[in-house]
Amino acid sequence: MPVHTFSTPAPAAVLCGVAGWVPPRVVTNDELAERLDTDDTWIRTRTGIRRRHVAEPGQATSDLAVEAGRLALRNAGFDPAGTDSVGTDPVDAVIVTTTTPDRPCPATAPAVAARLGLGRAAAFDVGAVCTGFVYGLATAAGLIASRVATRVLLIGADTYSTIVDPLDRANAIIFGDGAGAVVLRAGHADEPGAVGHFDLGSDGTHEDLIMIAAGGSRRRSAAGEPTRAERHFAMRGNEVYRHAVTRMAESARATLAGAGWKADDVDHFVPHQANLRILHSVADDLGLPRERCVANVDAVGNTGAASIPLALADTAARSAIRPGDRLLLTAFGGGLTWGSCLLTWPELPPPAAPHDPLVPHDTREDTPS
Ligand code: COA
Repeated sequence: MPVHTFSTPAPAAVLCGVAGWVPPRVVTNDELAERLDTDDTWIRTRTGIRRRHVAEPGQATSDLAVEAGRLALRNAGFDPAGTDSVGTDPVDAVIVTTTTPDRPCPATAPAVAARLGLGRAAAFDVGAVCTGFVYGLATAAGLIASRVATRVLLIGADTYSTIVDPLDRANAIIFGDGAGAVVLRAGHADEPGAVGHFDLGSDGTHEDLIMIAAGGSRRRSAAGEPTRAERHFAMRGNEVYRHAVTRMAESARATLAGAGWKADDVDHFVPHQANLRILHSVADDLGLPRERCVANVDAVGNTGAASIPLALADTAARSAIRPGDRLLLTAFGGGLTWGSCLLTWPELPPPAAPHDPLVPHDTREDTPS
């Protein structure tokens, strides 16, 4: 990949494609209740989740990432199997953000780039758990601003079903599998689609709140085989809940202040889809009407790094975002990590709907306070 010399002004990253993909298999709350001591009402009232999609055995994160990446490239007008209309490679960098890479080594992105036919594009993973997509956006924006890349494919993909203990009722109800992707190109900071005004943060003193204890060098360097609990995803849900509300609201506020926006300037608040109660609490805290809070957690659960691009793709597929609408994206995840950014929606063809719509239902008992 050529490295260019700097000149001013730096190009901005501009959104020019979006898509989402979830594996076809749906797991409802009732199905979970057949094997876990839980029930549909508990899950809906505590989390707002009604169903999630789950990968088949043997289906890995890269398989989901390839599907979402292909659709996003198509949405951007590029042919992933060949070259685009200007006769160059569609993108010159591929970033996959995930907590569930195919393997500890190598990164998942190079295999995804190869399977998409993206030639010699730079390819690497970004890990920031559920904040991964916003960190990935900042990384992509940096590559574009520094003229290292002119077009970047950013994919958030996770298969939490491969790391959550299926017998752990507290976590098995929350997570789903999925992938979402965006294509970013070099452009101008004042054009629709420009991504900007980031706020990123972390607090590693709370790393123990969300963790897989085994699998990395810390546990491997200790004596003895890891226990079942150490091998699986663990989360202290109650404490995470409080941090999520506080950190997301703080980050969203810092981002709005940095851009000189008021909460009322936000047409769509697109938070990481952790739990409907968390999303509504943050929206309330910011003084945003809940109708402006994009939520698809009911249909897909918490899909980790995929959740924000999947929510964007879902909303765009329903034509619920119009060109010129102003978006605030805010995420929170293990680390702890958090981050936000702003974007004005560009003119884009609606992507394919990532999943079937939920059947109409009585929403009265679905609305957690
Ligand atoms: N079904 C029924 N009961 C369950 C249950 C389930 N699936 N999971 C936990 N419980 C029980 C607990 O065992 C506990 O029982 P006890 O009072 O007899 O000990 C009781 O419900 C309350 O547990 P608690 O953990 O306090 O519940 P909660 O109201 O905090 O809800 C979560 C649990 C996980 C739904 C909630 O903490 C949460 O959403 N946290 C944030 C998680 C999240 O979004 N993480 C992603 C951040 S990126």
